[in-house]
Amino acid sequence: MSHLVAPSVLSANFANLEADIEMINASEADWFHVDIMDGVFVPNISFGFPVLKALQKLAKKPLDVHLMIVEPDKFTQAFKDAGAQTLTVHLEACPHLHRSIQNIKQSGMKAGVAINPHTPVHLLEDIIADIDLVCMMSVNPGFGGQKFIENTYDKIIKLKKLIVQKSSKALIEIDGGVDLTNYKKLIECGADVLVAGNTVFSSPVPSKTISQLKHH
Ligand code: DX5
Ligand code: ZN
Repeated sequence: MSHLVAPSVLSANFANLEADIEMINASEADWFHVDIMDGVFVPNISFGFPVLKALQKLAKKPLDVHLMIVEPDKFTQAFKDAGAQTLTVHLEACPHLHRSIQNIKQSGMKAGVAINPHTPVHLLEDIIADIDLVCMMSVNPGFGGQKFIENTYDKIIKLKKLIVQKSSKALIEIDGGVDLTNYKKLIECGADVLVAGNTVFSSPVPSKTISQLKHH
């Protein structure tokens, strides 16, 4: 499979979100990456259901929703209703992760697990066969535009081995600090999905940057 690119809406222009959604629709991007932050699990608040529902109306590509919230199980069905195709919860926020994943799948969505930079890959050992996506954080979650953490490359290689060993179909998504200087190496190490916020939206021609991230 050739890799996917998921621009992060967090870095879009919220004063004219429709224009940025249309740009992504018309671009080579594969998914919309949608960051939901609660100010508790992470030290920032992003946006909630009204914005997600606006996205649902306009987006012509799947919504990949990344929950940086505590107690995500409370909202599984609400995110399904708001158009999430993939719903990702943080391992660090879920004491009963297996149950959270089953709930997501029963609601008819693909299930993802995100891990923070300090969380070792081996903690996914007993859940990897049950999930569709691992969102590997390559910055500490909470903000766009942060510096990429170099240790991520080793973690991708470890995760790829675990996926093969457990015959898992999970995709490896890299989230945070992805740019035109590191994306090729990320793909070479085994990344399947590249999230990019700042790199796309702060560039002069965002759709061109998306095309660059698609080809290597
Ligand atoms: C960070 C978010 C990321 C963020 C990535 O907490 O999960 O999805 O939008 O943004 P960049 O690509 O700017 O690091
Ligand atoms: Zn994210």
